[in-house]
Amino acid sequence: MDQYKQLLIKAKEAMAYAYTPYSNFNVGAAVLTKSGKIYTGCNIENASYGATNCAERTALFKAISEGEKEITDIAVVSSSGDFTYPCGICRQVIAEFMKEGNLIFENNKGEIKIIKLNEIFPYSFTKEDLI
Ligand code: THU
Repeated sequence: MDQYKQLLIKAKEAMAYAYTPYSNFNVGAAVLTKSGKIYTGCNIENASYGATNCAERTALFKAISEGEKEITDIAVVSSSGDFTYPCGICRQVIAEFMKEGNLIFENNKGEIKIIKLNEIFPYSFTKEDLI
């Protein structure tokens, strides 16, 4: 649990960097890698709305581009006050690099929710399906 609280703190820190002039909806994410490192990310919007990158993918892409191969857990927080769950695209990207771990969420009441990827993204399409 201590590790998850640490991950949530990092996600909140990253949320401060969210670039959201269009939605004003700020999201922060932090991933824990199998090697024990933490990488953070925020959402980064764009005048061409579709070019927006979610916080979860920002954090994940930072980790993978630094040589990480697998993440074990991901924490997500937002400015909404409520639990914020990854969008469909992020669920697919998370599934590529996370096998067994947990997703950790916190709302503005300090309540923490921990769920398995399989709970919010069952029957996913993976590289095993390609062979
Ligand atoms: N967003 C995230 O960064 N992560 C989520 O889990 C949900 C949505 C961002 C995308 C966009 O910048 C804003 O939130 C509103 O959709």
